[in-house]
Amino acid sequence: MVEDDLRRLSVDQMTPLDASAELARLAVEIAEHDQRYYRDDAPRISDGEYDALRQRNAAIENNFPNLKRKDSPSDRVGATPATGFGKVKHRRPMLSLDNAFNDDDVYEFVVRVRKFLGLADGDDVNLVAEPKIDGLSASVLYKKGKFVLGATRGDGETGEDITANLATVVDLPQTLTADDVPEVIEIRGEVYMAKADFQALNEAQEKAGAKVFANPRNAAAGSLRQLDVSVTAGRKLRFFAYAWGEADTLPADTQWGILQRFEAWGFSLNPLTEDCKDADAALGLYRRIEADRADLPYDIDGVVYKVDRLDWQERLGMVSRAPRWAIAHKFPAEKAQTVVNDIDIQVGRTGTLTPVARLEPVTVGGVVVTNATLHNEENIEKLGVRIGDTVIVQRAGDVIPQVLAVVADKRPDKTEDYVFPDHCPICGSAAVREIKDVKTGELEARRRCTGGLICEAQAVERLRHFVSRDAFDIEGLGEKQIAAFWQDGIVRQPADIFGLKDLVLDPPLKDREGWGDLSVSNLFKAIEARRNIDLDRFVYALGIPHVGQTTARLLAKTYETSDRLFEALAVAHDSQSDAWFELVDVDGIGPKVAQTLVDFLAEAHNNVVVQALAGQLEIQPFDAPEDDSPVSGKTVVFTGTLERMTRAEAKARAESLGAKVSGSVSKKTDFLVAGPAAGSKLKKAQDLGVTTLSEDDWLDLIGR
Ligand code: IVH
Repeated sequence: MVEDDLRRLSVDQMTPLDASAELARLAVEIAEHDQRYYRDDAPRISDGEYDALRQRNAAIENNFPNLKRKDSPSDRVGATPATGFGKVKHRRPMLSLDNAFNDDDVYEFVVRVRKFLGLADGDDVNLVAEPKIDGLSASVLYKKGKFVLGATRGDGETGEDITANLATVVDLPQTLTADDVPEVIEIRGEVYMAKADFQALNEAQEKAGAKVFANPRNAAAGSLRQLDVSVTAGRKLRFFAYAWGEADTLPADTQWGILQRFEAWGFSLNPLTEDCKDADAALGLYRRIEADRADLPYDIDGVVYKVDRLDWQERLGMVSRAPRWAIAHKFPAEKAQTVVNDIDIQVGRTGTLTPVARLEPVTVGGVVVTNATLHNEENIEKLGVRIGDTVIVQRAGDVIPQVLAVVADKRPDKTEDYVFPDHCPICGSAAVREIKDVKTGELEARRRCTGGLICEAQAVERLRHFVSRDAFDIEGLGEKQIAAFWQDGIVRQPADIFGLKDLVLDPPLKDREGWGDLSVSNLFKAIEARRNIDLDRFVYALGIPHVGQTTARLLAKTYETSDRLFEALAVAHDSQSDAWFELVDVDGIGPKVAQTLVDFLAEAHNNVVVQALAGQLEIQPFDAPEDDSPVSGKTVVFTGTLERMTRAEAKARAESLGAKVSGSVSKKTDFLVAGPAAGSKLKKAQDLGVTTLSEDDWLDLIGR
């Protein structure tokens, strides 16, 4: 719509796209008048006209609260540019998928499903098979049939508000009019760019001397996350619907049935999607799709299989971040040959020396590859790779490309065995391979720097991990800034980040390279916002070996508060203590992880770093998922034969209600759920006075 029409359009008649464009225009116009009035003392319009602009802005914001801009005139006097997108908390997490790499993985997936559900031999597991589109997932919320909010996946819990951008995607309907559209329905699917549109875009970009994109996926990502919506609008993005989030009712009770309704409501459903009666049928489709892959008008990287029955999906639930009822069958990785120009050594946060092959650039599956990992010293020995060798490299999806093998007959003359350094290339400390097996003298595959805290690479990597997206996620503090702060001695440990704003620097931060008044003030704001941190993020951010997000969450859930967690870990140093037994008893934490945790905190300097950090923060206790459930926070033990669900299902369901499931009975057990043939655990529970329930009592208690 041309600008003059937009100015005259009444607020009631606006689509989200109009609203967003008009809010953007008003933000600029009001800011200009502000400057003329406040700074130049030279207003060009009357107070009445000025007020009318502000009122129009407020009225649009009122109708489209999600489109309210960060730089909204209603929030300020004096202009600040938009620094980013608003955040959207997903009502239901946006999940990722587990992968299958061959037919056996797919059969095993079906076996797992059958076992979990305890299906009889005659029960077929119908699967819906859909191409796995290589784009970005997005969520689009409709209320009373009106498109009101669009978001990126983000970390799965919180995404970015890209409502205005999504409103430009051609095959996303603005309104849904069918009779069976729920009051509230959040449609999820993949935003992608067709191959032809990608090519045309790159040609235009090249002509204009602008950035060209490596592949359609990157082009789609770059186009969607544009603060200037008119750029997105010019980019021809498309959308396939394949899932849903929040919904007050659902129009069918199978995956297939729902997809049919989505299509009837006006969404694009991928035409290769099929309802398959079993794994063999699904694998047949996989092969047909794989054969046609190169000719499809868009990129795909596999086929997704989903259990069709929604009641089964519900019962199967999810593990970590992926549903148990779906799996992505990936196409084989793409390979290419190229020459190793050099081998560099990188040092990670735990001191591991990782060799990286610097390659003669080569295109693998549409992406130019210049580096590939060689994993570790043992792998270099196994491959026998030398600088100058021609090698086969492989790239699969988002993972780092790897060197698979050396092409022996292409080895040039005068090459030498690669000698792995025995000193850290960063700090010069000895780098050693620990003994893995005392009996055989077998060594660990990797070599580690022994420099610990004096090793800059380790310290910087730890800090990078600390601020990374799944950890503290501090906007404006990325790898570059962290490395520079370390160099300048400003940030040497996590706690320093929270002292930054009180630090008197010469020159001040705002005068340093890459910084200015605005970016410094935004950084400080982002840091302050993170003083309040969830316990699981905090634990994950510490970068303790073997403690990933899942373990961090488990610890948070088990100990609930940081005080309790750290006290327990300190006491658990005594391997005869109750605290130690409680720790190894947590389902999902074995003795190895438990020992690493205890050792980590027993190390004096780690303890100092953690305490200094904790002193700067408000660590939020773990918030159990469904807090109102009667078993939230309770410890449950299952024993005997369960008759109405499998053990795996019982455990998964209890955990999703916020309960902890333990393998043994102790004073801390709240409920023992005993099926027929319960033995010693039942007796112990009775001796300790623990409440024992039958399977039916338990189902009554959790309301099923
Ligand atoms: S379902 C409920 N179906 O793959 C599970 N995902 O590796 C949610 N993707 O984040 C995903 N095509 O971006 C699903 N037909 C499809 C898909 C698909 C592409 C993407 C999606 C997801 C990623 C997981």
